[in-house]
Amino acid sequence: MSKFIFKDEPTDSGRQPAKKVVKYWRILIIDDDESVHQVTKLVLADSEIEGRKLKLVSVYSKKEAIELLSEDQDFCMAFVDVVMETDHAGLELVEWIRQELKNQSIRLVLRTGQAGTAPEAKVIKEFDINDYKEKTDFTSGKMVTTVYAGIRAYRDIMTIQRSLDAFKRLINATHNLLQVNQLKQFGSAALNHLLTLMDIDSSALYIARNQIDFNQETSNMIIACTGKYVSESNCLESSQIDNDVKKLISKTFERKSHYSDEGCFIGYYETATNASSVLYIEFEDDNENFRTNLAELYATNVALILEGLSNKNEIERTQKELINIVSEAVEARGKENSAHVQRVASICEIFGNKLELSQPFIDALKLAAPLHDIGKIAIPEHILQKSGELNAEEWQIMQTHAESGAHLLSKSTASISKLGARLAHYHHENWDGSGYPEGLCGEEIPLEARIMAIADVFDTLGSKRCYQEIWQDDNIKEFIASQRGKKFEPRLVDIFIEHYHEFINIRALMPDD
Ligand code: C2E
Ligand code: SIN
Ligand code: SIN
Ligand code: FE
Ligand code: FE
Repeated sequence: MSKFIFKDEPTDSGRQPAKKVVKYWRILIIDDDESVHQVTKLVLADSEIEGRKLKLVSVYSKKEAIELLSEDQDFCMAFVDVVMETDHAGLELVEWIRQELKNQSIRLVLRTGQAGTAPEAKVIKEFDINDYKEKTDFTSGKMVTTVYAGIRAYRDIMTIQRSLDAFKRLINATHNLLQVNQLKQFGSAALNHLLTLMDIDSSALYIARNQIDFNQETSNMIIACTGKYVSESNCLESSQIDNDVKKLISKTFERKSHYSDEGCFIGYYETATNASSVLYIEFEDDNENFRTNLAELYATNVALILEGLSNKNEIERTQKELINIVSEAVEARGKENSAHVQRVASICEIFGNKLELSQPFIDALKLAAPLHDIGKIAIPEHILQKSGELNAEEWQIMQTHAESGAHLLSKSTASISKLGARLAHYHHENWDGSGYPEGLCGEEIPLEARIMAIADVFDTLGSKRCYQEIWQDDNIKEFIASQRGKKFEPRLVDIFIEHYHEFINIRALMPDD
């Protein structure tokens, strides 16, 4: 059995997971003798197996069978006559189905009229068939038994194969799942797949509660949705989904147990770390094929991915805190207890939003901003804390904080650190080329550093420094305006002037101790 379970996945990547399964067992009869078709149909016509009728399809030669199967493989079984256009046409066909078509699932029953041409022992050994019947010996009772056995075997194979398929996709997807939107896309595809596998017409939802800190969202997150519940929203509360359904889902979270009635199944799942999720499956026709164990397979695997994501977020949170702690420690060497590093992060964020930069970039900028002065860690305290003007030599040393910060951070390959390295390196460059350490000019200066430059000066002038008093707000505004096209990029100065109060407000929100 292991042979088909672990066979390579078909490469038809365009396959639609939501393909509706036809509610028949389709059986192919391949025989050049019309009377065999008639007898088979007569015997099997009214059979119903596992709640489905049979549909018999007739072809009369190996050639016809190949033509049909090349287009349509949706058969659970085939009866194959051995002698048709040649003495071994049936055997060749079996070989073609298994080796060329690579269909390992279809159950193949070989039927022979002349036992001598294809001895049972040899054929079953050498050809990948599932049963062998001599036509004379194939009574109607035996035929029905054979079909039952074949269909059950086929059903089990498909179940295993599809479960493994779904499982593999789940596992593969964890490698590059970074964002909740990707998770939703994937989760929905897997959910569609699951419903197809369970062979039910349904709309479904998979909801996770509160376990991931994506954008500090605290609501019920829609991880997957299918059918009529397909929703743009990532949040159950704000979605268009029926209030009754929302209530049922909330109740399930509260009761922490499965619930089902004729219309729906609601599974409740928890991982080891108490992350909880709910799988809501609404039945649109019958639910007799519903398999709780497959729902469980889905929910537990998606929950594991979620857990992986929240661990990842945990790591990010830790890194963010570490950045702040280190940056504040550096800042504190200048003797002030200052929220400067946090404020410049927020000021950069405002600029990023006004410039309509991409959200991931703004998020990264916000994380990296506190690192801009990290190079001051290498500046001697007596210079850093000098209350008056710096002399020429001290000033030389002070200016090295830009390059030494870039150097410190250049050792990391993490994108936040690389961004931090650029901020450190270039945050004292001036738009007109008069800055340091490189004397870059205009757009030679990375955008993030141009933003950092104006954010840094704006916040520094409004803060207590050992070498200067706090400036009046009006004076700060006037100074920044005077540096339009000199120290600062003109369009950033314009943004600053236009939204002046938003920037000023940051200090009220994040005051120094
Ligand atoms: P910082 O304290 O973080 O200051 C950042 C930037 O704010 C300065 O970059 C400068 O562009 C602006 N800034 C700060 N104070 C004033 C001011 O009184 N007037 C004006 N027009 N701009 C001001 P800059 O000049 O490249 O200085 C880099 C760092 O060097 C400063 O970082 C500070 O740590 C140190 N520094 C600069 N001037 C002095 C000083 O006179 N005495 C001491 N002890 N340190 C100084
Ligand atoms: C972006 O936010 O899309 C990129 C910003 C930049 O570095 O130009
Ligand atoms: C540096 O500034 O030295 C490294 C940052 C970069 O430009 O990529
Ligand atoms: Fe600096
Ligand atoms: Fe600074």
